[in-house]
Amino acid sequence: LISRAFLNNFIIPEWREFCDSIDEIYWQARSNKEGKVASYIPQLARYSPDYFGVSVCTVDGQRYSIGNTDIPFCLQSCSKPLSYLLALEELGPDITHQYVGQEPSGRIFNELVLDHNRKPHNPMINAGAIIVTSLLKRQSSLADRFDYVLKNIQRMAGGEMVGFSNATFLSERETADRNYALGYYMREHKCFPEGATNLVEILDFYFQLCSVEVNCDSAAVIAATLAHGGKCPITGERLVKNSSVRDCLSLMYSCGMYDYSGQFAFRVGLPAKSGVSGAIMVVIPNVLGLCVWSPPLDLYGNSVRGVQFCKELVQRFNFHNF
Ligand code: DON
Repeated sequence: LISRAFLNNFIIPEWREFCDSIDEIYWQARSNKEGKVASYIPQLARYSPDYFGVSVCTVDGQRYSIGNTDIPFCLQSCSKPLSYLLALEELGPDITHQYVGQEPSGRIFNELVLDHNRKPHNPMINAGAIIVTSLLKRQSSLADRFDYVLKNIQRMAGGEMVGFSNATFLSERETADRNYALGYYMREHKCFPEGATNLVEILDFYFQLCSVEVNCDSAAVIAATLAHGGKCPITGERLVKNSSVRDCLSLMYSCGMYDYSGQFAFRVGLPAKSGVSGAIMVVIPNVLGLCVWSPPLDLYGNSVRGVQFCKELVQRFNFHNF
């Protein structure tokens, strides 16, 4: 890193100018007061609508943060690509995709719907993520399974802030009628792997993964690990295979932004995943990972300021894939 610094041989050479632009886009998006903070559980409802943070981590470890980047929030659906990655690592894409498809569903994230093969459409919606959760470390105890995922997320975050909100977990479980309905519906249609019949256990694990806490800074490192082909840019540790990252980014690109995924792919052209906590993890392959966090959500469930930030970033820097 030091020799690169001397040679100014970084992935983004004009770093100062780049950060100034991030600041400008941040302040522009900050004045947007649209959207509503998720209110289905008190732990989310309590977030101030004014919270707004942006963190960037490049594949060579340059960092920049502005705003509320050290306040913890839950991954919620941002955990879905991470569970999917771990399933790919453990089982490979062929076995994983015996249970879950690769198509955008064109429906809301918790829709009670399966594809023509009676599989959930993709791992980025609730149905698909519940199935993926049921595939992970099946021979281990529940405690070991949770530890395994948490440890892996911590390593992707380079050892930075990754925790767990038990209050969120308990609230998620209390208000989980739809996820239970999805579980029963999928069990009826034999979507789960053989022997995985304990819905209470599977759903508890799913809610626990939604309740893993990060902050904007640590989530940016996770996104940067994806941008770096599965190698954490902070520790240099290889955590997942290139091919697993490629599969994961492909589905984040087509399915990561709920029902807005097509428009986001068109306008922004980058793989991303949003969660109801107001986070969006965005990956610019071979360049950087970023996390935008601001709780007010639009009608699709995406962070209003987050989407605005991404659109403006691509306007200025042409990070769009095409
Ligand atoms: O499972 C649920 O319904 C919530 N924990 C939602 C998670 C989320 O971010 C919504 N997204 N797909």
